[in-house]
Amino acid sequence: MTHHPEQQGFTVWFTGLSGAGKSTLSEMLFHELRRRDMKVELLDGDVVRTNLSKGLGFSKEDRDTNILRIGFVANLLTRNGVATIVSAISPYRDARNRCRSDIKEFVEVYVHATVEECAKRDVKGLYQKAMAGEITGFTGVSDPYEPPQSPEIYVDTMTQEPDQSIQMILDELSDMGYIEDGRRLVHAPQSHSGYTDLRLDGEPAEPEARVSP
Ligand SMILES: Nc1ncnc2c1ncn2[C@@H]1O[C@H](COP(=O)(O)OP(=O)(O)O)[C@@H](O)[C@H]1O
Ligand SMILES: [Mg+2]
Repeated sequence: MTHHPEQQGFTVWFTGLSGAGKSTLSEMLFHELRRRDMKVELLDGDVVRTNLSKGLGFSKEDRDTNILRIGFVANLLTRNGVATIVSAISPYRDARNRCRSDIKEFVEVYVHATVEECAKRDVKGLYQKAMAGEITGFTGVSDPYEPPQSPEIYVDTMTQEPDQSIQMILDELSDMGYIEDGRRLVHAPQSHSGYTDLRLDGEPAEPEARVSP
């Protein structure tokens, strides 16, 4: 019988404000890892809230429950050799650190942009509503965000293009030994993974995968 060397599982955990760039970078990383023939799964906070965490709200308790559920699944995947990507605001340090200590092979990526910048982007029109008081408990506006104190990777999406941020992430994953080669393999725009709520330009009608609600 041929022995196939087992892929080392790990979790890349993106944290940051809404609109900071978590889903954008998750999609790019998903395609880079797939191109390397790795087993990859992506857990995007906004999508998780429509299935695994359906019914949960935005109190601290519900936010923590949401993150611990994501961490639980990420741990199962990671220990089975899957390259697991999580992109969720995950505003509370304690909840992130609990996931870190369970998963161990944990790469925290702090996706940084200020509230002002995210509000200017206002990808989903939510900041306008939050600032008008139409949405309460909105992270960065009327709810806390606790930035990581020592993330493995820090990307500043105020000053970097997505291409630069993803390169930093690939270089770090390569340095940590999770991937062999950090050079970009995917350049052309990719079809939607189906695992994030990101809207991509020129997106095909049918995503390549879809988690049904
Ligand atoms: N370096 C960068 N990395 C990721 N996104 C960036 C970067 N610079 C600008 N952006 C833009 O910021 C927005 C981030 O949106 P999104 O990925 O949906 O955020 P999140 O998932 O964190 O809510 C996109 O419009 C993206 O094009
Ligand atoms: Mg997102």
